[in-house]
Amino acid sequence: MKKTVFAAFIAFWSSVGTLLALFALTPTVTLAEGETEYSLEDVAGHDSLEDCWMAIRGKVYNFTDYIPKHPAPPMVIEPWCGREATEGMTTKGYGRDHSPAAWESMGAYQVGILSSKP
Ligand code: HEM
Repeated sequence: MKKTVFAAFIAFWSSVGTLLALFALTPTVTLAEGETEYSLEDVAGHDSLEDCWMAIRGKVYNFTDYIPKHPAPPMVIEPWCGREATEGMTTKGYGRDHSPAAWESMGAYQVGILSSKP
C-alpha cells in the first residue's frame, strides 16, 4: 500500500513537472496588452501619402500625420507606403541610416506589430 501511495505521489509530481516544462518551452506570443497584429496584406491597404502605413523591424506604423513634418519631401517616402520599409529607414534612399533621434520618434506612430503570417 505504501508503495502505491509513493508511486502515485511520484506520478503526480512528474506530470506537474512535465506540464510546467511544456509551458516554459512553448513560445509565447509577444503581443502587449491592447496591441494589434497586422499582416503585410493589411499594411498594403495603406499605400498612399494620404494613408501611409509601413512595417519596420516587425512593427507597424501609420505615418500619415508625420509625412508633412518629415524633413525630406513626401516623394521620398511615398514609395515605401504600404510596404515593409526597413530598408527605406536604414538607407533613406541613398545608403545612410536615419539618426537615433529619427528612430526614436517613430514610436508615437506605432499602431501594432507585424504578424508572422503572410
Ligand atoms: C521609410 C521611408 C523614409 C525615407 C526613404 C526617408 C528619407 C529621408 C531623407 C532622404 C532624409 C533627408 C536627408 C538626410 O537627412 O540624410 C530624411 C531625413 C529624416 N527623416 Fe526620413 N525617411 C523615411 C522615413 C522616415 C520616418 C518614418 C521618420 C520618423 C518618423 C523619419 C525621420 C527623419 C528625420 C528625423 C530626418 C532628419 C535626419 C535624421 O535624423 O536622420 N524618416 N529621411
